[in-house]
Amino acid sequence: MSDYAKRNGEGDHRIKDDDPKAIALLKEEHHKFRELFDQANDAEGDELVEVARELSLRLTVHMTIEEEILYPVGKQVGDADEVDEGIVEHEAGKQLMAEIDAMDGSEELFKSKVHVLGEQTIHHIDEEDEELFAEMIEAHEKGKIDLDAIGEELRARQADLYDQIASGHDVEPLSEDEALAETK
Ligand SMILES: [Fe+2]
Ligand SMILES: [Fe+2]
Repeated sequence: MSDYAKRNGEGDHRIKDDDPKAIALLKEEHHKFRELFDQANDAEGDELVEVARELSLRLTVHMTIEEEILYPVGKQVGDADEVDEGIVEHEAGKQLMAEIDAMDGSEELFKSKVHVLGEQTIHHIDEEDEELFAEMIEAHEKGKIDLDAIGEELRARQADLYDQIASGHDVEPLSEDEALAETK
């Protein structure tokens, strides 16, 4: 049992009306990860495998667009060490995901690997919401960066990646409307 999703409505994790597009998009995905890891922690057998596969696809796309588009800008306006730590956390997550992807779900450690991936990922995304994103919103408000334009770039690259790696899977990017609906 876990209740990571409870945090989606709290503090810096909440999607606010005036969050710039880049932040709304990424927070919305963070919400989805908290929900999916809650689901994984309650799941067994085929259901667990299915949730793990969806997480792996979604996390791969999310990490890629952050590393390619968001983090380089974050490094200029925020704490560069914090961004580098984020990259190292992504690397650790990718390593664990590769191990999970190579398993069929019958292995003794499968469930534990998904659970630990969840603990690490939740720690990482909580920190992004509270630290990096907060710093970047401040820079956006001061006119130093344009997180709405960056949001458009993130969405375009995300769509490409879903076409490339998720085709044939029943997983699609979250829609803009979902993020908006959450602010209501
Ligand atoms: Fe990240
Ligand atoms: Fe993230």
